[in-house]
Amino acid sequence: MSIEDELQSTIDDLVQEGKGILAADESQPTIAKRFAQYGIESTPESRRAYRSLLFSTPGMEDSISGVILYEETLLQRDDRDRLIPEMLSARHVVPGIKVDRGTVALANSPGDKITEGLDGLAGRLDAYKAQGARFAKWREVYAIGERNPSPLALEANAETLARYAAICQEAGLVPIVEPEVLIDGDHDMKRCFEATESVLHAVFHALCRHGVVLEHMLLKPSMVLPGKNHPQKAAPGQVAEATIRVLRRTVPAAVPSINFLSGGQGPEEATANLNAMNAMLSDPPWAISFSYGRALQQPALAAWAGRSENGGEMQKRFLERARLNGLARRGEYAREMENE
Ligand code: 13P
Repeated sequence: MSIEDELQSTIDDLVQEGKGILAADESQPTIAKRFAQYGIESTPESRRAYRSLLFSTPGMEDSISGVILYEETLLQRDDRDRLIPEMLSARHVVPGIKVDRGTVALANSPGDKITEGLDGLAGRLDAYKAQGARFAKWREVYAIGERNPSPLALEANAETLARYAAICQEAGLVPIVEPEVLIDGDHDMKRCFEATESVLHAVFHALCRHGVVLEHMLLKPSMVLPGKNHPQKAAPGQVAEATIRVLRRTVPAAVPSINFLSGGQGPEEATANLNAMNAMLSDPPWAISFSYGRALQQPALAAWAGRSENGGEMQKRFLERARLNGLARRGEYAREMENE
């Protein structure tokens, strides 16, 4: 198969009506933090047990087309001794891999960050691909502050994302390009709108400079929301209206799918906001879907609490969120479904 055909077939498998992506690629410090909330110790075995249970949820494949894994998980086995990427592929769920190495402060730009991990990336991608990964994810983060994100941060982060995406496509892995405007702060929605517009504008300019094929990538943005500490919450209709407006201004129609991150929204909130966007547009230029981490996993993790006897309940909770987000992907979700 040519590289182009390979990328296209991964896109076809990932972008499907009523389906989205599960982000289960928490780094070691992040998963330790999530586990600690429920008194679970984070060890290679507890992480394996949790993720193995989660990924073997019966029926997950009806709403989940792909799973983003962390490096460690690529080599772990499920409870039936199958390698996790192989087990996912056998269920027609595409395995992907987080390939960035996390963020550091951006020098000479107080309050801004930059993501590391480009050195040696091509070599790592070949290894991940041999282990079954067909797509990749890289996240840049932008905090909103009085002077942030700065023009330098916009440019440097966009350049990094574009270099990553170009390297992925050369290796035959579909890149998920994730610029996350953080929810932290007391800014209003307008400020988030402006920051998101500048970020996406810079990202697509850089993708173009680097020759990234837009048809063979996915965008994973944050929604336009008021800051976490802003006194007013926004209704799903407002979030949908502002988010679609900014995406229309900045994301070319050649991009096949936009898969949002949840970024600190509650599970129901993330589902309702996604639903509002799909309900609003009958024929959007791109698919509008999800690539949620916390919003898909939080209720499941709480139900599991590290005990094998809770496995059934955990899978039930996970399947419920996956199913409701699958409906939101079609604009067919309603709040009343939460209590059914
Ligand atoms: P959240 O949905 O929890 O924001 O996670 C998505 C993700 O992959 C962040 O990089």
